[in-house]
Amino acid sequence: MDLFKQKIEKLRRKINEANYNYYILDNPTISDAEYDSSMRELQQLEESSPQYKTADSPTQRVGASPLTKFNTVTHRIPLLSLDNAMDEAEVIEFVSRVHKALPGEQVEFVAEPKIDGLAVELVYENGIFVSGSTRGDGITGEDITQNLKTIRSIPLQLRSNQHPIPSLLEVRGEVYMDRNDFERLNEQQLAEGKPAFANPRNSAAGSLRQLDSRITATRTLSIFCYAPGSCEGFSFETHIEFLQTLPLWGFRINPLIKLCKTTDELIDYYRSIETKRDTISYDIDGVVFKVNSIGQQQTLGIKSRSPRWAIAGKFKAKQEITQILNIEASVGRTGAITPVAHLQPVQIGGVTVSNATLHNQDEIDRKDIRVGDWVVIQRAGDVIPQVVKVITERRNGAEKPYRIPAECPVCGSHIIRPEGEAKHRCQNMNCPAQIKGRIQHFVSKRAMNIDGLGDRLIEQMVDSGLIHSVADIYFLKKDDLAALERMADKSAQNVINAIDASRETTLARFIYALGIPNVGEHMGKVMEREFKDLETLIAADYERLEAVEGIGPIVARAIRDFFDEENNQQTVNRLLEGGVSIAKSKTGTQDERFAGKTFVFTGTLTQFTRDEAKEIVEKKGGKASSSVSNKTDYVVVGENPGSKATKAKKLGVTIINEEEFLDFVNK
Ligand code: IVH
Repeated sequence: MDLFKQKIEKLRRKINEANYNYYILDNPTISDAEYDSSMRELQQLEESSPQYKTADSPTQRVGASPLTKFNTVTHRIPLLSLDNAMDEAEVIEFVSRVHKALPGEQVEFVAEPKIDGLAVELVYENGIFVSGSTRGDGITGEDITQNLKTIRSIPLQLRSNQHPIPSLLEVRGEVYMDRNDFERLNEQQLAEGKPAFANPRNSAAGSLRQLDSRITATRTLSIFCYAPGSCEGFSFETHIEFLQTLPLWGFRINPLIKLCKTTDELIDYYRSIETKRDTISYDIDGVVFKVNSIGQQQTLGIKSRSPRWAIAGKFKAKQEITQILNIEASVGRTGAITPVAHLQPVQIGGVTVSNATLHNQDEIDRKDIRVGDWVVIQRAGDVIPQVVKVITERRNGAEKPYRIPAECPVCGSHIIRPEGEAKHRCQNMNCPAQIKGRIQHFVSKRAMNIDGLGDRLIEQMVDSGLIHSVADIYFLKKDDLAALERMADKSAQNVINAIDASRETTLARFIYALGIPNVGEHMGKVMEREFKDLETLIAADYERLEAVEGIGPIVARAIRDFFDEENNQQTVNRLLEGGVSIAKSKTGTQDERFAGKTFVFTGTLTQFTRDEAKEIVEKKGGKASSSVSNKTDYVVVGENPGSKATKAKKLGVTIINEEEFLDFVNK
C-alpha cells in the first residue's frame, strides 16, 4: 500500500479515536494541540494526494460550498411525534392504558430526558454516514448532510471493533446547543450587529439550517441519539439494548437515561429530572417514557402520528404568552433606571408573573417592544422574568412605542444616559428612591466616615422624615435623634459627636462621598490633586475635566452631569452651610496617613535636613511644627534628642526614628 495512504489512514484513526473519546465517552485522551497538529497534517496529506480524500474523513467537518437550497428527502420510516402528559396523573393514566393493552404482562419502561432541540435522522450505509435530514413534517425533511457532518459528536463512519456493522442503519436524535455556547454565540451576534437568538433551540435550528455549512462548522452543536429508523442486518429485543449499542458504534446517548420497572420509579424520574432542569447545561422540556420491549411496542402500535408505547412528560412551561399593559421606569438604589413591563398576569412554571424587566432602552429598541404588545415571557429559576420576543403578528396598530422619560418618576429631576452606559440614571442625589443607599455610602468609612450612623438608623431617620438629603445630617440636633425609637440619650450624643468629627474633611473624601457615578476613591484623589478646592472643581467645564490626566470622557461627563443638576448643587451648598469644611489641598499628592497630621522633628537628623523633612510632610498634606503639644501626632527623633522627645513621651505622642519615618513616607 502507498505510504501516503497508510499515513492518512493512521491519522484518521487517531483523530476519530480522539473524537470518540472526547465527544462520546466524555473522556479526552489527547491534548488540543496534538489533535490540531494531527488534523493539519491530515489536511496537508489529503491536499497533496487528493485521490485518497474520502467523504468520511475527519477533515470533512469544516463545511462544504454553500447550497442554493436544501433538497427534500423522504424518510424511509416516518418520524413520529409524541403524545404529551401534562402532569403526573396523566403519566399514571398512560401506564394504565399500556397495562390494559398488555393484560397480565410485565412492562418495563425506558425513561429519557426530552431534549429541546431539533430532531434529525442520520443514515449509515455499510458503516458510512451517507446522508442526514431534518424531521420536517415527519414524512419528508430537508437534506442537511453537509451541516450534520460538521458536528463532532456525529460519527462519519461507524466503529466496528465492538459490534457488527449493519448494512443499513438509521439513527434519530436531537441536535442542540449548550446554554453556554448559546450565550457566547449571542454575544458574538450582537457584537457583529446581528440579531440575537431567542433561545438555544432557535440558535441550534438557525445553525443547522445554514445553506453555507462552513457557518454551521463555526457553531458548537451536539447531538443525543435516542431512536432507530430503518435498520437492516440487525435487530434488538429491547429499546435499552438498542440505546446501549449506540455508543459502541460511536453515537452519543444521554447519560441520564434510566430503565424503570414501576410507576413509582417513573414518577420519581419525572420529578428528579425537573428538579435538575436548571443545573443541566442544555435545555430540556420534559421526559420521555418508552415501553422497553420491542415486541410489546409492536403489540401496542401507533395511533395517527404517535406511538401508543411512548409518552412525553412535559415540564411546567417556562415561557408563556401575555400582553404588556404598561411600561414604567423604575428607579434603583443607585439611580439606575430600569424599564419594567406590567403584564396581564400569567402563570409560568407555577408562579404568577405580572412584571418583566426590559433592561434598558437599547433592549426595548432592539426587540421593538411596545405598550399593548403580545409577548413571549420567560422565567428561569429565580431570575426576573424577561421578554423573549414580541409576537408582531398579533399587533393591531394600537401599540405604542416607549421611551424612558426625561424626568425621574420619583423626584422629577433630570434623567440622563451617561456616555458609554446602557442604563439611564436619575441625577438627583437626594431622589427618595436612592436616598438610603446614598446616605449609607456618604457616611461610610472611606467617605465621610461618620461612625455610628448604621444602616438601621439611616432607615429610621429617612422613614420618619428626619432627613431627606445627605446635607440634613449636618443640621441634626441631639434631641432629634433622641426622639427616635430605641435611641438612648447617650447614643444620640455619640452620633452627634461622630458627625462633628466628620466635618473636617478632604476634597478627595468629599468627592467620593457624593457618589458620582464612575467616580470612586481614586478619582476623588485625582480630582483633589488637580483642582485643590471644590470651587475650582465645580467651575471646571467638560473640556477642562477631560484634559486632566487620569480622567476620561466618561468620568468628565459624569462629573459635569452631576454638578449641573440643581438639586445636587444645592445639596453641596447646604453641606458647606452645615459646617463641612474641606481642607485646602497643598501641592503634591495628598496622602491619607499625612492629611491634617502634625509632625515635629528633633535631634540631629542624619538622613535629611530639617527643611527637606518639612517639605516631605507638607507635600503629603501634613504639617511640620517646631514645638510639641497635645496637637502633635508624631515626633521624629534623630541623634541626641533633647527635651522635645521627653515632652512627647509625657504627652503620649507617637515617637518614631528617622528610619521609621522614611518607611512611612515610602510605603
Ligand atoms: S423519541 C416515537 N426521545 O420530541 C418516538 N424524542 O415530541 C419519537 N425528543 O420529534 C421520538 N428528546 O424531536 C424521543 N429522548 C427523546 C427525545 C425526543 C427530544 C423530541 C423529538 C421528537 C419530539 C416528539
